[in-house]
Amino acid sequence: MSIYDYTVPTANGGELALANFKGKVMLIVNTATGCGFTPHYEALEKMYEKYHEQGLEIIDIPCNQFGNQAPGNDDEIHQFCTLHYNTKFPQMKKSDVNGDKALPLYAYLKTQQGFRGFGAHQHKDILEKMMAETDPGWKTSPDIKWNFTKFVADRQGNIVARFEPTADMQEVEKCIAALINETVSENKMSGIEKVYKFIDEAGTYYLATADGDQPRVRAFGTVLLYDGKIYIQTGKAKPVSRQIAANPKVEICAFKNGRWLRVAGKLVNDDNRDIKAAMLEKMPSLKPLYSPDDGNMQMLYFKNAKATFSSFAGEQEAINF
Ligand SMILES: Cc1cc2nc3c(=O)[nH]c(=O)nc-3n(C[C@H](O)[C@H](O)[C@H](O)COP(=O)(O)O)c2cc1C
Repeated sequence: MSIYDYTVPTANGGELALANFKGKVMLIVNTATGCGFTPHYEALEKMYEKYHEQGLEIIDIPCNQFGNQAPGNDDEIHQFCTLHYNTKFPQMKKSDVNGDKALPLYAYLKTQQGFRGFGAHQHKDILEKMMAETDPGWKTSPDIKWNFTKFVADRQGNIVARFEPTADMQEVEKCIAALINETVSENKMSGIEKVYKFIDEAGTYYLATADGDQPRVRAFGTVLLYDGKIYIQTGKAKPVSRQIAANPKVEICAFKNGRWLRVAGKLVNDDNRDIKAAMLEKMPSLKPLYSPDDGNMQMLYFKNAKATFSSFAGEQEAINF
């Protein structure tokens, strides 16, 4: 299941499919109009105005399960929010987030991000005392603790953060800003640049070759984007090089920030001296071992390759190059 499989009931009797927000950064919050944290609406609206055009969506789900602090009907709640906080993000139907009648979306969110404490906050002690009185298992249960708990999904649909109501709204904004900016720049990149950047930032990737009738996997670290091609480096004297020569169909795999990438393709040798020199400039630690004219240094690029980005929660993304 991914967040894009869920829908949320809207105030006017419809259903909002979160699949509509594929590629957006989402903040999902359970709200209440009469809570000490209700002024969070002000910061949420500011964030919405600042980042909505760049892809932020806020999903406001009123909930009366915490201290009966959202007693009004959907119209009354909406009037309150627009009057006091001028909110413009969509407001959903009042719903449960814990218990038998909880929205299925919340069951999912809780499996993705559990409770990790209230952090340092002036009302921490009061909240902890209240929790202990209502639920003896509160510390380990992923259940929502109070109004204005916020979940954040990145543009791939991964639930990357959960903020308790006690979290500073500036921290929430930092998280949103980072996700918005990271991916705005990623969206401008071509597919091959995305693949290169991912491998480069992962630092280490694993290269699988065929060793006779046996597959063999090795740690690799070299990668270079040159003339629109992704190159890796090795030495002709190594068994890995002989294996590639015997069967150039290889696969590499890298992992970074909860996402992984597989690239399957054919490696082609390229003896261009400039590319070897560029590799050594990029990775000076190779200089004591290789030089462009040593007859050993080898640069290989991917041809007819298929790259697949995956994560447990998000959609797969495939790039051919
Ligand atoms: C983190 C790490 C990165 C590595 N990067 C490369 C690389 O980019 N190119 C390379 O030829 N070998 C690299 N190696 C070495 C290979 O994993 C492997 O040990 C080497 O090719 C010897 O294997 P072979 O003699 O069976 O070919 C790296 C090893 C480690 C631990």
